[in-house]
Amino acid sequence: MKVTTTTESRLSTIDFNNLGFGAGLSDHIFMCEYKNGSWGEGIIQPYGSLKQGLGLHALHYGQAVFEGQKAYRQEDGSIAIFRPERNWERLNKSGARMLIPEVPKELFMEGLMELIRLDAEWVPRGANTALYLRPFLFSSSEFVAARPSEEYTFAIVTSPVGELYTKPVKVKIEQHFTRAAQGGVGYAKAAGNYGGAFLATRKAVEEGFQQVLWTDHADHAYLEEAGTMNVAFVVDGTLLTPALSDRILEGITRESILVLAKEWGIPVEERRISVEEIVSAAREGRLEEAFGMGTAAVVSPIDGLGYIGEILPVPAPSEGLAMRVKAALADIRYGRSADHHGWMTKI
Ligand code: COI
Repeated sequence: MKVTTTTESRLSTIDFNNLGFGAGLSDHIFMCEYKNGSWGEGIIQPYGSLKQGLGLHALHYGQAVFEGQKAYRQEDGSIAIFRPERNWERLNKSGARMLIPEVPKELFMEGLMELIRLDAEWVPRGANTALYLRPFLFSSSEFVAARPSEEYTFAIVTSPVGELYTKPVKVKIEQHFTRAAQGGVGYAKAAGNYGGAFLATRKAVEEGFQQVLWTDHADHAYLEEAGTMNVAFVVDGTLLTPALSDRILEGITRESILVLAKEWGIPVEERRISVEEIVSAAREGRLEEAFGMGTAAVVSPIDGLGYIGEILPVPAPSEGLAMRVKAALADIRYGRSADHHGWMTKI
């Protein structure tokens, strides 16, 4: 791997006491190019501009996928990443759907590790902070014919982050827009899935919500995801979450929370969940909690559901399941409790 280090670190421009989410990008990036049917040598260089011009294929046709993961400062000062192999697997699953060549595991892992080692000082130390890692893959030929690119770029940028949501969120049960359709790309972390959600989210925000609670494409009768997160409900003591399908992202936080809940003896059901079921449970006082699960937000309690002009309150107990899983995950991630599952990879 060829490494060129920066001569002008931007570290001092970051206010580590007030980290938002994703604005300040770290000093170095990892990059590797796919040309003539194979991946070249990975390079690390200072953060900077792309060398391609405006014919860049990804800008025109959106053949682009990404990952979101985090590196955590451990109690002893060292650094560890949460389940990086799962992100590598999912990146390639997303890439396969978008006809992007597979990234070899060694390339992904070595690029990630080396980059974090070099920018170790960018891994924050405060409570609930992390270095957000953004591996991404995009088509990098320069032409405007509507056919797959011949060249691709795999890159990683990183950013020190705090909490995405510091308070419980209100979500609007979407009755018009659709995030994903059967046979589409909803399960992939395709760039356009996020761009396509911005309008619906903007409208929900204008109506006083923080996020959209996505429903199915056919009748808006089944609940699917909450904003950029997977969603879970606790009804009559059972943890319910929509079953994975080609419309739902296979969340690694979701998967890890289900593992913990099952170990704790909490009944877990992964199945279709109707709007009607959750709205009735909320009206009857049987909806004990609702929360989003994702890398950026970790666990985000939902305290209100907007449903056709009405706001149904949802309890967000400080001692509930959402807070319990959030604390348990944090203890594992920051090295405060034993990593029985082998989820942490030390840098
Ligand atoms: C995640 O939380 O997993 C995300 O992908 C969020 C990101 C779009 C900011």
